[in-house]
Amino acid sequence: MSAGLYVHLPYCASRCGYCAFVVSTDASSREAYLEALSREIELAAVEARGARFDSVYLGGGTPSLVPEAEIRRLLERIRARFELEPGAEVTLEANPEDVTRAKRDSWLDSGVARVSVGAQSFADAELAAVGRRHDAAGARKALETLSGRGLSLSADLILGLPEQTAASFRESVASVCGAGLDHVSVYLLEAEKSKALEEDRRARPQRYLSDDEQADLWLEMGETFAGSGFEHYEISNWALPGREARHNRKYWERVPTLGLGVSAHEFWEGRRRANVSVIPAYVARLAGGERPQAADRALGPEEEAAERIVLGLRLARGVPRREVEGFVAEREDPLLSADYASWRDGGLLRETDDRVALTERGFLLSNEVLCRFV
Ligand SMILES: C[S@@+](CC[C@H](N)C(=O)[O-])C[C@H]1O[C@@H](n2cnc3c(N)ncnc32)[C@H](O)[C@@H]1O
Ligand code: SF4
Repeated sequence: MSAGLYVHLPYCASRCGYCAFVVSTDASSREAYLEALSREIELAAVEARGARFDSVYLGGGTPSLVPEAEIRRLLERIRARFELEPGAEVTLEANPEDVTRAKRDSWLDSGVARVSVGAQSFADAELAAVGRRHDAAGARKALETLSGRGLSLSADLILGLPEQTAASFRESVASVCGAGLDHVSVYLLEAEKSKALEEDRRARPQRYLSDDEQADLWLEMGETFAGSGFEHYEISNWALPGREARHNRKYWERVPTLGLGVSAHEFWEGRRRANVSVIPAYVARLAGGERPQAADRALGPEEEAAERIVLGLRLARGVPRREVEGFVAEREDPLLSADYASWRDGGLLRETDDRVALTERGFLLSNEVLCRFV
């Protein structure tokens, strides 16, 4: 199978209340960063000689904030150095407030085939509560601007935002269903990523849906999406048939992906590697002529077996049953065997003749299940 290429563009106009990604709100280093990224492309292309790529993912940070001429140059450089297959899936993450017709046309012209829009919500109170720079009308307008031009279109939502109610979440779900998308990602808010958010949830619980309310809404949302033709193919992802995110699937299926840019992770030739997570160190290491990796390790057979299960169970199609049963038997851990039986008997896991997969309720409790295989 062909490989994937992830590129991290870390600049944002401001930091959102829930976000712990490696981002910078100071654009003064952007030129030096893009220069360093070009160097990393050269170095990585030597390592990847002979490999074919069928997906590129420009993620962030806020790639839509990078001037479109820079996006064009970046994609040109990638095409010049890596062997990209015709029809490769090239995705760009966009924040609604950046989307204009001019940018859209330039992205299309540069070979972007898919845009993933960080809508997060279609309720102004929720968006304001986490410091988003767009409102619901802005999210709708961005999706409208992007649709109808042959772009594959995805949107992100978050369940659990402050000020979110059952009614406002249903409204967000209805909005994405009616927006002509072919893909939707919905994440449960990870409040622990932000100290302020965590404290706020403790101090003002009335601003938040309870865990039970979130669970009910999650299951209801799945039914609404199914009614609009979306298939639930991964814990947080729904797609129209055949429109699953090719690049993202590679992470769960353990297909090799290179990761370029500050904090980027990669899986290449059986090794898991991660770049440094501070921009000045990233730039300095590349000025010295080396890929700026902070971690690089080969996986042992046990770790690999665990990864195949933990990542594979994220997908609706699950994993081969003999692999899970073999793993549980080899661990010789009576607690794991008992848990496995109780997940199956309690309806969190579904077994067929040859596969094991999480059920919809299992997806909801996936953290508890998956951490037991590590
Ligand atoms: C890498 S982020 C950046 C995308 C883009 N800059 C934006 O703001 O829309 C990708 C997605 O991760 C999700 N995300 C980030 N932090 C999260 C958190 N603490 N809990 C749940 N989802 C989160 C958001 O839905 C976001 O759209
Ligand atoms: S959610 Fe997006 S825009 Fe907000 S800080 Fe994170 S990466 Fe930047």
